[in-house]
Amino acid sequence: MNHFAAIPRVPGDSILGLLDAYAADPNPNKFDLGVGVYKDAQGLTPILRSVKLAEQRLVDNLQSKSYIGGHGEPAFGRLLNDLVFGASNPLIAGQRVGATQTPGGTGALRLCADFIAHCLPSRGIWLSDPTWPIHESIFTEARLKVGHYPYVGADNRLNFDGMLAAFENIPLGDVVLLHACCHNPTGFDLSQAQWRQVLDVVKRRELLPLIDFAYQGFGDGLEQDAWAVRLFADELPELLVTSSCSKNFGLYRERTGALIACAANAEKLLDVRSQLSALARNLWSNPPAHGAAVVAQILGDAELKTLWEVEVEAMRSRIAELRVGLVAALAAHGLAEHFAHIAEQRGMFSYTGLNAHQVERLRDEHSVYMVSSGRANVAGADASRLDKLAAAIASVC
Ligand code: LMR
Repeated sequence: MNHFAAIPRVPGDSILGLLDAYAADPNPNKFDLGVGVYKDAQGLTPILRSVKLAEQRLVDNLQSKSYIGGHGEPAFGRLLNDLVFGASNPLIAGQRVGATQTPGGTGALRLCADFIAHCLPSRGIWLSDPTWPIHESIFTEARLKVGHYPYVGADNRLNFDGMLAAFENIPLGDVVLLHACCHNPTGFDLSQAQWRQVLDVVKRRELLPLIDFAYQGFGDGLEQDAWAVRLFADELPELLVTSSCSKNFGLYRERTGALIACAANAEKLLDVRSQLSALARNLWSNPPAHGAAVVAQILGDAELKTLWEVEVEAMRSRIAELRVGLVAALAAHGLAEHFAHIAEQRGMFSYTGLNAHQVERLRDEHSVYMVSSGRANVAGADASRLDKLAAAIASVC
């Protein structure tokens, strides 16, 4: 019997598949605006200096590679909570918040999906339309009821009124997934006033927010980007946050992140954490240790932390400059107004407004690689070749 005979082939990942296509393209003037990875002026994804120093310390001082436990390295969890909520946040003193270390932000989302399925089984989850495609597949695979709220209108601008109206109709008690900053794939973020309006309807509909916080430091700054998370943590008794160290520590392949739960009191947090630890045991037993150990070294050492903050700020401001530079380069083709949103969006990604056909032409005619939805990773652009990129975009408009 041929056991695998009936197994069909599925299409490759719409984002990661671009890596192979880009690598196979012999054009020396190609652009990689696909996968969300930061690149420096030399087109490299560097290991941060703070990370190198922390790794050296680990090489010199690490005594064991034994298991680190279901919730991961305690120092990592504590320091990450400080980074996300602010060290003086009463949540922390009240022992109402706990981080469970996961293999990247994706692992945190996967654990969260199991948590909802097991512990809150009747709840649906609501995603922005559009959202990161893996949100869609993770929650669907976990057999959750997945709904969508509008986020971007036909004019390729934030559709906040549509979003808010949809929230009014989400069933009482359901889970809503929100992007803390640097919305993936669009780059359109909510203003503080808009976050307050969302909070208001979340309270009235008794919704449970799950805030995906994958890009802390890449929007307006490490503290500024945490604003909405902290507002929700101040105002609500319960909250889930998925945090990723892939981008802001450049630890992509080390798979470093956490699912952070905030509960109404310390006792309830222990109940929730017991479930998370049991669920994580089935998924990966113990989380990978190295990336979290690096993060703990950096955040736990004043000098390394300062160096890291400077490095994050350098990445953030370079992306912001690339955004402004690209719009300026598009101005030479009379397209500054058409693409003005690129400079207003935040984080790595821009929902350019280019359609799938234009994206295909950019790839086939100019070796410019971006996701077929029109999402471009601005951080993959090269400041010295923005005129060439703008000319390529103009030729398909
Ligand atoms: C992206 O959206 O490109 C990144 O988050 C990388 C990934 O895993 O998809």
